[in-house]
Order: sequence, then structure tokens, then C-alpha cells
Amino acid sequence: MTAIVTAHDLSQIYEVKRGLFQKPIQLKAVKDASFTVEAGETLAIVGESGCGKSTLARMLTMIEIPSEGQLTIDGVRIEGGAIADVAKLRSTVQIVFQNPYGALNPRQKVGAIIEEPLKINTKLSSAERRAKAEAALKEVGLRPEHYARYPHMFSGGQRQRIAVARALILEPKILVLDEPVSALDVSIQAQILNLLADLQDRLGLTYVFISHDLSVVRHVANRVMVMYLGRPVELAPVDALYTQPLHPYTRALLSATPATRPGDRATRIRLTGELPSPFNPPTGCSFNPRCPYANDRCRNELPVLKQHGPTKVACFAVDEGRLPDLPRLVA
Ligand SMILES: Nc1ncnc2c1ncn2[C@@H]1O[C@H](COP(=O)(O)OP(=O)(O)OP(=O)(O)O)[C@@H](O)[C@H]1O
Ligand SMILES: [Mg+2]
Repeated sequence: MTAIVTAHDLSQIYEVKRGLFQKPIQLKAVKDASFTVEAGETLAIVGESGCGKSTLARMLTMIEIPSEGQLTIDGVRIEGGAIADVAKLRSTVQIVFQNPYGALNPRQKVGAIIEEPLKINTKLSSAERRAKAEAALKEVGLRPEHYARYPHMFSGGQRQRIAVARALILEPKILVLDEPVSALDVSIQAQILNLLADLQDRLGLTYVFISHDLSVVRHVANRVMVMYLGRPVELAPVDALYTQPLHPYTRALLSATPATRPGDRATRIRLTGELPSPFNPPTGCSFNPRCPYANDRCRNELPVLKQHGPTKVACFAVDEGRLPDLPRLVA
């Protein structure tokens, strides 16, 4: 396996203004994220609302430049607020957003929507663009006559297909999928997930799949990165994550996921307490106020990701061997 994306201590820090005469305060939306995405795999990113998933997606797709750390995508390095070769990366990485209603301009015909990236990034003639757009429509299971219709004439699932067609038009290597099926009915979700799996096989795509739905992630991911308050806390192959979750936060997330078969769930862990404010994260491990295993070290020192078997986890309770075994969280 070779890494197509390498992130090293990647951070996105927003200066948030409070009032006219007050100093802006810093919000660390993503902090010190180090991970790779292997060519051809699906890396899922999971975690509660506000943990930094979309911020990470915006950095991976060059919508925002990281404020700290390094990011290398397909050999191009992005560092210290600058990109060497934006144009190349614009076509290498594309994004599909959650909301298929908001992401498509209602005044543009589907053909124009899909062709827009070609207009901006290539010198193709309008006939060439049209041929590519029609081929992309076909690729995502739509028909050439859909080219001249407006987005409101489509169902949610079809609109998400249009968004995928537009994302594919520049022949990217990497698709960042930010909650791509969360706004869709369950029956439609399966169709879109099948389409994505099919496209990945046929085109050899690499996916970064962002979701809060752990039952979906189990079906689509090769590896999973769990984030908490801007930091990755566990990174594991999908089987290891679901059968042997290590971080207490991962365990709590999994135990809150509905079991697919009755009787699967042997243990239930409740998350107590609120998600802390990102403006004022707890000292030490950010999860310590909600963690049943937290001790003084956890309240004062910041754990970093360490390898434990197939899994990387940032947790002193794991490091020190004081985490209880969890034989059957999910079957
Ligand atoms: N442009 C911005 N300026 C200031 N703060 C921001 C900005 N964008 C995001 N944030 C904050 O950064 C944190 C992470 O937000 P982000 O959208 O990445 O979370 P998320 O994990 O995608 O959440 P969700 O599951 O709700 O989509 C949040 O606290 C959010 O309020
Ligand atoms: Mg988001």
C-alpha cells in the first residue's frame, strides 16, 4: 500500500470575533491530526457533531489552507499556509457534500452544473464538454436527456448522483465524501452507497468517507479514524474497530449505535456529561471529563496516538493496561 495522502500535525485554527472591542479567540477546529490515506482505500472519519470532520474535509480539498502542519496529496506538498500547485490538486481531489439540495445551483441546468469544473480548469470546446458530461451522467446511472433539466426536477438520490457526476468530471483520484448519504432515505442510501462502491472499483478511486453513522461506516470503510474535539483519538482497520474498540470514546460511540441483530449488544456504555466547548477544551485528554477511566494523568497530560496491535489509539488507560476488556460490545 502506498499513501496518496499524508497529514502530519495538521491543524485548522479559526480566529473567532466576539465583539467589537474584544480580542478574537481561537477555536482549534482540527488539532494535530496525523494520518495517511492509502491509494484505493476508503478511510472513514467519524465523531460527534463539531469534532472537525468537515474542517478536515475542507483542508483535504483545498477549500481551506491548513493553519499548521503539513499535508501531502499525490506528491504535492501543502505547508505553512501555501500550496505549490493548486491547479493540479483541484483536479486530484474532489468533494461531495451532504445536502444534495443545497450543493446544486437551482438556476443552472444539470449539464452546466456538471461541466462547470471543465470550464474553469480545462480548455475543452463546448462539444467536448458536453460529451464528457453525458458520459458522466451515464457513469452515475442517469440518462443523457437529464442534461437539459434543472435540479428541482430530480429526487434527492438523483441529485446526489448529479453531485457525484460533477465531482468525477475532472477525473480525480480522491473523493472526499462529507456525509454523502445522511440526508437521504434509507432505501436510497443503499443505492448511492452501491454506486460509490462500484465507481471506486471501476475507477480505482480513493475515498475519505465522513459520517456520523457507524453502521454505514462498517460497510464501506477499510479503516476508520475516530475524532474527538478536533483530534484523532483512534485509527484502526474496520474489523478491529468494531470487534476490539480501544478508546473509551469509540466504545461509547459504538454502544450508542443500534445493533443490527437483536442480542448483539452485550455491553452498553453511556456517555455522561456534555461535549466540552471547543473554545475551552479540558486540559489533558479532551475526553477526560466524560471518561470513566480518567485519572490525574489523563486530566493533566495529553495522550498521543500509539500503536496497540492493529490499532493506533491516544489513551493513557490503554497505554497503562488499565482499560477493562470488552469481549462483546458488538458481535
Ligand atoms: N469558518 C469557521 N469559523 C469558526 N469556527 C468554525 C468555522 N468552521 C467550523 N467552525 C467550528 O469548528 C468546529 C468543527 O466544525 P466542523 O464543521 O468541522 O465539525 P463537523 O465534525 O463537520 O460537525 P457536523 O457533524 O455537525 O458536520 C466547530 O466547533 C465549528 O463550530
Ligand atoms: Mg460536518
